[in-house]
Amino acid sequence: MDPIVKFKTAVRAPGGFVHLNNAGVAPVCKPAKDAIQSWADRMHREGAFAIPDLFAAQERARSNLARLFNARAENIAFFQGAANAISQTAFGLDFKPGDEVIVWDQEYPSNFYPWRDAVRKAGGELVTARSGPFLSTPFANLVEKVTGRTRVIAVSWVQYQTGAITDLERLAAFAKERGILTFADVIQGAGVMPLDFSASGIDAIVGGSHKWLLSPMGVGYLIAKPEVFARIKPQSVGAMTYGTPDDLSAIGATILPGPARFEPGSRPMLDIAAFGHALDLLLDTGQERIAQEAEWLAKKLMHGLRERGYEIQSPHGSHHRGAIVNVKPTAVAKHATLDALGKALHSAGISFAARSGGIRLSPHAFNTVEDLENVWTAV
Ligand SMILES: Cc1ncc(COP(=O)(O)O)c(C=O)c1O
Repeated sequence: MDPIVKFKTAVRAPGGFVHLNNAGVAPVCKPAKDAIQSWADRMHREGAFAIPDLFAAQERARSNLARLFNARAENIAFFQGAANAISQTAFGLDFKPGDEVIVWDQEYPSNFYPWRDAVRKAGGELVTARSGPFLSTPFANLVEKVTGRTRVIAVSWVQYQTGAITDLERLAAFAKERGILTFADVIQGAGVMPLDFSASGIDAIVGGSHKWLLSPMGVGYLIAKPEVFARIKPQSVGAMTYGTPDDLSAIGATILPGPARFEPGSRPMLDIAAFGHALDLLLDTGQERIAQEAEWLAKKLMHGLRERGYEIQSPHGSHHRGAIVNVKPTAVAKHATLDALGKALHSAGISFAARSGGIRLSPHAFNTVEDLENVWTAV
């Protein structure tokens, strides 16, 4: 069977919903759903006897994530959501008075406030770079903000409202020459666009489980170069930062190497195990194939909406990658206001998100031409 057909079958459930808010919360794929159910059942029957297998499932999720990004499993840590992973990174870097961190002015709040608060706490400053048309991220607007005090440039790989893409490789090469750390929130691309972390040159990335990675909500991850991973100071510590739950407290204990650095104790193991199964599905299907299918659907969606009198507020040149489509009604559209368009989509069972004065539709590779036909009927 064509891997993409298999992928669609493994994600879609009967029920009449059209999932076009995959940049918000995507449906949980069947392998992840089955894993949660089977782990809940095992924990019910076996309790503590199931724990070694559950920890093995966590490590499988970690190594799958390493494969997805071409990264090293020992430099991947799990968190509760992306915001915690970003906060750990921002507050764990040893900022000094006068230091500067550069972010986009239209950054997602969870990749904005941690940097603002961490650098200000140290007596430094958050510097914002101006976004361009469709909240695009022109390289020139970032670099014009760089000074001798810039310590970190923190960006999103894919802009969450419009899908504009930051050129991570170019940014990393520029920053490396100047000794500036680069950090990217990759949540809006991971799973629907390939990313080679090692080749990108970026120092650290963060993401989460519940969007394009088709997993339950609540698992965040941090991936960093070994020297950066070791440099970020843990903000939460516990038994497992220093040893195992079986060890007694020891006044001279030192931090363990690897993920334990940021994983101090018990965590949502069922969600992490399920995440590992969703990653199996994504890896088996292939990142390029998924990206191709999602982009094909997104381009079809843009084209069809434009034909029906809607304006596209996302970058949409033929070279543009990604699957986020932000759309706005015009006077000639059937629904001439945002409110009317939102109501029409909602009553047709189509999920979406209101973003940036428009409506964001975000098809994944599991969507189908029939899903788009439902959109045409509604709009
Ligand atoms: C760019 C970006 N970062 C992070 C998040 C989510 O972060 P968290 O997992 O902390 O809820 C979102 C979700 O909307 C997002 O768009």
